[in-house]
Formats: sequence, C-alpha cells, structure tokens
Amino acid sequence: MSTLNERIHRQFHGTPDIEPEVYEMLGRDADTNLAELIWQQHCFHEFRRWNVTEKVRAIDLSRLTPRDKRFVRNAGIAELTTKPGADRLSNLADKECRRWSGRNAVLAAVMQALGTWSRYWNEEESHHETAFGYLMMAVDGFAPTDETIIEYRKIFPDDNMLRTLMVLVFSEITASVQYAHVAQQVSEAGLRSLLRQIAADEIQHMRYFVTFAKALVDSGEYGAKDAFAISHMYLREGGELYGSVREHPEDRDSHVNWWDHVESGFPDIDLGLGIDKKEKMIFNALERVSGIRVTSREEVENTWMDLVPC
Ligand SMILES: [Fe+2]
Ligand SMILES: [Fe+2]
Repeated sequence: MSTLNERIHRQFHGTPDIEPEVYEMLGRDADTNLAELIWQQHCFHEFRRWNVTEKVRAIDLSRLTPRDKRFVRNAGIAELTTKPGADRLSNLADKECRRWSGRNAVLAAVMQALGTWSRYWNEEESHHETAFGYLMMAVDGFAPTDETIIEYRKIFPDDNMLRTLMVLVFSEITASVQYAHVAQQVSEAGLRSLLRQIAADEIQHMRYFVTFAKALVDSGEYGAKDAFAISHMYLREGGELYGSVREHPEDRDSHVNWWDHVESGFPDIDLGLGIDKKEKMIFNALERVSGIRVTSREEVENTWMDLVPC
C-alpha cells in the first residue's frame, strides 16, 4: 500500500483520472481520505482545462451556416440550465452530508466529495455556456434576452440523491452524443473543434456522476431500483430521451429541462440524434452503478419492476 505522500504526488507526475471506487476509497482506514480525493478532483480538473477565448477566436464566423447558427443557439440556451443544476447539487450534497454524519461516516464523506466536485462541474459548464454565449451574441439576433436567462436559471427542486445523479448521468449522455453528432455535421473547423471539446467534457461529467451514483449504491443505503426507475423514465416510449421531439414534452413552472426546449426551425436538423448510441450508454452506466447488466428497454422495465418491493 503506497503512502499518502506517494499518492498525492502521483496525481501530478502521472495522468490524473476520476476515482472509480469512491465508496471503497473513502472507507479506507485513514482520516485524510476526503482531502486526498479533493486533491485528485482538482488535478483532474486542471489537467483537462481549456480556454474559451482561444477556442472562439479560432472560429471563422463568416463561414457559419444557418444550421450551424441554430445548433449554437440551441446549445447556448441549453447550457444556461447547468448553473442552477450545479448550485442545486452542491446544496443538496451538503444537506445529505449532514444527514448521514453520525449514521454512515463514509457516505457522509461521499456526499461532501460530491458537493466539492460540483464546483468543478459548475466551472466547466460555465466554459460551455460562455463559449456558446459569445457565439450567440456574435451572430445577429441569437443572443438570449435577460428574461430567458433568468427563466433558465430557476433552481431545480430537490429529489433523492441517487435519482438526481441518474438524471444528471443521462443528461450528460444526451448532451455528449448530441454535440459529437453535430460536430460531424459542421464544416467550420473552429466550431467543430469547440463541439468536440465540449462533447469530451460532457463524457467526463457523465463518468463522475456514474462514480458517485455507484458509491451511493455501494453504501447499501440507496437501492438500485431508483437508478432503474430513472432509466425507465428516459427510455420508455415518449420518455425524457426524446426531449422536444416528443408529442407532449413536459411543461413545468418550477424549472427548465433543457432537452424539452430544443428548437428546430430547420427541417433537416434531426432532434432525435443518436438514440441507439444514447441507449447503449445508458445500459453501460446502469451496469456500472448497479452491477446489473441490461441490454434493452424491456429489460430495464422488467428489472425495475423486479426491484420494487411488493
Ligand atoms: Fe455542458
Ligand atoms: Fe456536462
């Protein structure tokens, strides 16, 4: 077993990565586990940082097509909801940390690590929002109004933490697949590079949410049934995965789910991009979180029903 000193130095001498076994790591026989994990989070964050102004400067605005502009508008509006998402997560994680303190010290540390990571998540999402925000302003008539920004900043209501994390896993999957598909379709090299960078960030966010959701299930305090319930909510016919393509997207007063508000305006923009890929990624995430392998939406529904107590 390496020493704390060796491990923290390995983070910047080597290639930092996301801790895959958070519950096990925080349960080690040491009272410095949380400090070590926070350092690991920071090293990974810094290792992957990029510069918004450099990225947008490389885009030739005169070469953006009407479709590119519409993609930028949809993405920029969607990214406005990440700040309230991260603000809500850090509050909920701290509340949960206090709730578990004295009852399950490792789980309390998991919640604190999650709340701590949400500051990096928030900062990374701010890169996405402001990169697209600049492009929306630079393209005539596409800047969001103050009213839109304030509306899209509504803080999401609290839910059970495992359910919350699974929604975030699937939201990141949807975003990453969407950006990667769009990147293949745009011809302007700078915009393509920006979309690829953001798609890669969303994958890392998904990996983080998966690792924390797994830690909750590993603790024995959260049941895998909640992970399956949210998966079913996404995968079912007319579910969240279909976003604004649905015949009846959700209409809420409390907050805005970005996937319900993707506008087309161009008949050749496919809002149902990469459904198969998204489904496969959802099955893989579910397996990582719960240890249960499923390969179809029917299996997801059946497993969920099996897990619900009679
Ligand atoms: Fe994002
Ligand atoms: Fe993200």
